[in-house]
Amino acid sequence: MNKYTYRNKLALVTGASSGIGKAYAKELAARGCHVVLAARSKDKLDTLAKEINRQYGVKAYPLACDLSQASAPRHLAEQISELGLSVDILINNAGVGTYGRFEEIDSERELEEIMLNTAALTDLTHRYLPDMLKREDGIVVNVASMAAFMPCAYSAVYGATKAFVLSFSEALWAETRGRGVRVLALCPGATETGFFDSVGSEEMGAGQKLSTPEKVVQAGFRGIDQGRSYIIDGRNNYLMAQMIRLFSRRRVALIMERMSKPKGY
Ligand SMILES: NC(=O)c1ccc[n+]([C@@H]2O[C@H](COP(=O)([O-])OP(=O)(O)OC[C@H]3O[C@@H](n4cnc5c(N)ncnc54)[C@H](OP(=O)(O)O)[C@@H]3O)[C@@H](O)[C@H]2O)c1
Repeated sequence: MNKYTYRNKLALVTGASSGIGKAYAKELAARGCHVVLAARSKDKLDTLAKEINRQYGVKAYPLACDLSQASAPRHLAEQISELGLSVDILINNAGVGTYGRFEEIDSERELEEIMLNTAALTDLTHRYLPDMLKREDGIVVNVASMAAFMPCAYSAVYGATKAFVLSFSEALWAETRGRGVRVLALCPGATETGFFDSVGSEEMGAGQKLSTPEKVVQAGFRGIDQGRSYIIDGRNNYLMAQMIRLFSRRRVALIMERMSKPKGY
């Protein structure tokens, strides 16, 4: 598979205000790509847009939005087209998690999590993939997780949303193969970002060796260059995803429950 040319393309990066999304936006800009930066934190996006423009000389458009709202992807797409822009690369990265006993987690919060992690990602893909296919040129990277490979007790909804992202991306990879568009599920393991703070628990991810957003992003670029359907950041994470297949689903669910149990339960 040929290396993709990023120069003078336009990428939409969701969740660009911090962590993996911010690192993705910077690396795309370093490769000569103009970027649309989407997330809720307007100030952070404005600062990043200025930094990217100054450092890499590409255009950066900060567009604040709450993608857990059903109408947000449509509004975002309208704003992008009002700017006269067309999206060549879609990085569906924005995502949140929840942790704890299912019955104790706020239902509203988990419904927003489902909307953000799956519905917004699907909606944005619907909006941009058809034109990419017409042009026979484009990239869709959906940020999944190691959580996509196993049922995640105490993060049941989060794991399920990421299983959706992985399955959806692999299916689209197969559908679009050979038609000029590359679709990839990027699966990070525990990574040093604001993610665990936003979950509101120090326990989720505790004791795990953390990767960096930059390493995760490099895996994403490698996955695209290699025409992969999914890529996992980190050798140990890769081995774990393969090992899981040797056990029954029941056993995996129970092991995960034991490993993830919050203190005091
Ligand atoms: N860190 C990890 O260990 C890890 C592991 C596996 C997978 N992942 C996945 O990686 C992706 C990026 O997470 P991260 O680790 O970089 O965490 P992060 O630093 O917390 O970044 C999350 C990003 O999503 C944005 N976001 C959150 N809610 C949003 C909403 N309602 N509308 C629009 N944007 C929203 C946040 O910006 P605002 O707050 O400004 O909206 C932020 O830019 C997520 O999909 C996550 O599930 C992370």
